[in-house]
Amino acid sequence: MRVVDLDRDMSDVIPTSMSRDSEYLFERMTQATLDAALPGPGRRVLDVASGVGQDTIAMAVRGADAIGAEPSRRMIGMAKLFAEEKKVEQSSRWVQCWADRLPFATGSFDACICKGAMDHFDTPEAAIAEMARVTSTEGRVVLAIANFESLSCRVGRAVDDFREDILGWDPIRERRGYDAPSDHFTRYEVDLIREQASRHLILRDFKGLSMGWGMPGWADFLGWLPASAANACVRGFDACARAAPVLADVIVVVGQPRRSI
Ligand SMILES: C[S@@+](CC[C@H](N)C(=O)[O-])C[C@H]1O[C@@H](n2cnc3c(N)ncnc32)[C@H](O)[C@@H]1O
Repeated sequence: MRVVDLDRDMSDVIPTSMSRDSEYLFERMTQATLDAALPGPGRRVLDVASGVGQDTIAMAVRGADAIGAEPSRRMIGMAKLFAEEKKVEQSSRWVQCWADRLPFATGSFDACICKGAMDHFDTPEAAIAEMARVTSTEGRVVLAIANFESLSCRVGRAVDDFREDILGWDPIRERRGYDAPSDHFTRYEVDLIREQASRHLILRDFKGLSMGWGMPGWADFLGWLPASAANACVRGFDACARAAPVLADVIVVVGQPRRSI
């Protein structure tokens, strides 16, 4: 039996209020993923582990024929309601399935995206292989994943080690941002995602997005700054992430199925 909760919804995931760095990161990650998939009229796109379907719907809004593939019935139920609200029931469809057993023919899609989800899979590399299989030889697979060796993870770990090991103080918080949460199977960083993706995809782009998200004191500092200065900071750090993906908050990989060579 698989260790996942099929009745899971996003109530524990969607934050009720967001700091400036969170807002910037989530928006940046979404836009970079969607833009890389080139959703548009006449294109068939697949959103693997589509959750409540916001990205599937966004691709349908851009004119694509979009399918959300998701194992959770509750998430699919919510996605259908959101699609109705956005009036894209015709161009968005929902299929209940696992990422490592996609019920689609080889080469059926022009693009396949998987955003913020691979670390939840029990067999993530099998899922990448499946995404490569169902994408056409000229198509693209876009993987967006959190980097657990980002600058903020490294700084957070160093601060905690200093407080606890050198000063002998108690931990500041129960869950440390640099430890993978309990519902994650894999703790991704650049080498691991590159290695797994390269076995199934010819990499066309490998970029880092945003830097500093979750770093101790960072959200408070940005909140204290005037909005224009805070925006300049997050944009500046985003430029650093592009230059040094190893320290970025999120990695976006774009590749073509390997069978196309
Ligand atoms: C954090 S959510 C991400 C949802 C969406 N992609 C987004 O960006 O909001 C992770 C999703 O992975 C799904 N999931 C977990 N294990 C899976 C698996 N083995 N195959 C496919 N989806 C899975 C969960 O049901 C959940 O919807």
